[in-house]
Amino acid sequence: MPAGGFSTAPATGVEFEAKITPIVIISCIMAATGGLMFGYDVGVSGGVTSMPSFLKKFFPVVHRRIEEGGDSNYCKYDNQGLQLFTSSLYLAGLTATFFASYTTRRLGRRPTMLIAGIFFILGTALNAAAQNIEMLIIGRILLGCGVGFANQAVPLFLSEIAPTRIRGGLNILFQLNVTIGILFASLINYGTAKIKDGWGWRLSLGLAGVPAGLLTIGALLVVETPNSLIERGRLEEGKAILRRIRGTENVEPEFLELVEASRIAKEVKHPFRNLLKRRNQPQLIIAVALQVFQQLTGINAIMFYAPVLFNTLGFKNDAALYSAVITGAVNVVSTVVSIYSVDKLGRRILLLEAGVQMFISQVVIAVILGIKVKDDTNNLHNALAIVVVVMVCTFVSSFAWSWGPLGWLIPSETFPLETRSAGQSITVCVNLLFTFAIAQAFLSMLCHFKFGIFLFFSGWVLVMSVFVLFLLPETKNIPIEEMTERVWKQHWLWKRFMDDNDEGQNHHRYAKETVKPLEKAKNGTSNGNGFNSVSYQL
Ligand code: BGC
Repeated sequence: MPAGGFSTAPATGVEFEAKITPIVIISCIMAATGGLMFGYDVGVSGGVTSMPSFLKKFFPVVHRRIEEGGDSNYCKYDNQGLQLFTSSLYLAGLTATFFASYTTRRLGRRPTMLIAGIFFILGTALNAAAQNIEMLIIGRILLGCGVGFANQAVPLFLSEIAPTRIRGGLNILFQLNVTIGILFASLINYGTAKIKDGWGWRLSLGLAGVPAGLLTIGALLVVETPNSLIERGRLEEGKAILRRIRGTENVEPEFLELVEASRIAKEVKHPFRNLLKRRNQPQLIIAVALQVFQQLTGINAIMFYAPVLFNTLGFKNDAALYSAVITGAVNVVSTVVSIYSVDKLGRRILLLEAGVQMFISQVVIAVILGIKVKDDTNNLHNALAIVVVVMVCTFVSSFAWSWGPLGWLIPSETFPLETRSAGQSITVCVNLLFTFAIAQAFLSMLCHFKFGIFLFFSGWVLVMSVFVLFLLPETKNIPIEEMTERVWKQHWLWKRFMDDNDEGQNHHRYAKETVKPLEKAKNGTSNGNGFNSVSYQL
């Protein structure tokens, strides 16, 4: 083992020399800023849209409705434009993912991160300086493009630059930083809402410039990954960089494996068509279902609109904003719980336990709000308000140790090598599509369903828990190359998809022979956020 560093210990038993070099440390900072930026964008919109000065300037109809204290509290924020302010980011992100997968592969990880940083800076500037609704929405679209490019390139960059032993941790760090970004945004909203003269929202939107700037500077400082250079045929350069980042001259074994991995990756033709083959359908069904269900838990109704929601329930502005801070903090802490328990307790236990916890908390919230409506008062009784906040926290915590990280982790570890990158692309796209749908529809749904919105989401929680119970196999501690034998072929339903022909056997042999080198080269598995292997064969 080299002094001052450590050797990585990949699955094959071969140990590559690797020190924790400054470049690797910069990678950690990149992980932090990329995740923070995304989380900040998720969390900032709700607080800003609950600020009267912001509403007055851009959404006077909504502002008037609130001032007049109209007939239904539930409908006061129901406005397509207001929802578009939140949702446009996700639609842009979804579209940008496809371009980003091209630039990540053809230009490299570093230029793609730079593009993301520039989009973020432009979007932030436009938002902070916005004079009209067009500037606001275009700003959000630019931020969305940044999200599309950053979420593609940053996790991939990290997987490739970090020594094997800290790769998984770095990727979970990215996910954790998303939740920290959401928390920061609520804290900043809480502070800026107090600014007199009503320009606090500009500061909230403008402070996104800090992680945006850091990401851009970071992209200028870091090196391109050896994987990307090798993939583009620049072998000698790739080897030189590998020496620099590993802090040793002895990189030949890892270099050869990267070259081999790149060759094998290029051999996989038509990955999207492969996904539809019968033997690959179970993984596809599970990945899509997990992402659709993740959004149908209703989490982003809380993440995007917590202050608006608490306001709707009769909380004063200040109380609504600090309640959002509390739920944001619960989100971060519970994500840490997940990191520690996912490989001990297993995926199914976490998802099933969370199902019960989410169902109960949503039903309790609906009942409390339902009773309140019958009383015909506009504000919740203090004690009931506290119960609602506690229930929202109960809901958020169970999401954060289950569907939050596992919606990403499980797809990333179940797809076989030949469909992994295509599978991950689908996973990301389904996520952004449904995130967009919830962002665009939630306030209108709240207006029409009233407290019943929570029963709507709880109904889905029931459906997804039944899905987990019968259709989701446990994947805890199972090496990826043994998934077919130990997971899919043992499952009462999915085994019927596995033994259909010889191809399945060949596929298994193929996966066994090739997945290990690729694991090390690209670490497309167990990344906890699911974005990292998207770029390879799109
Ligand atoms: C989800 C996001 C959500 C976040 C909340 C993620 O896993 O994909 O949509 O905003 O968790 O922490």
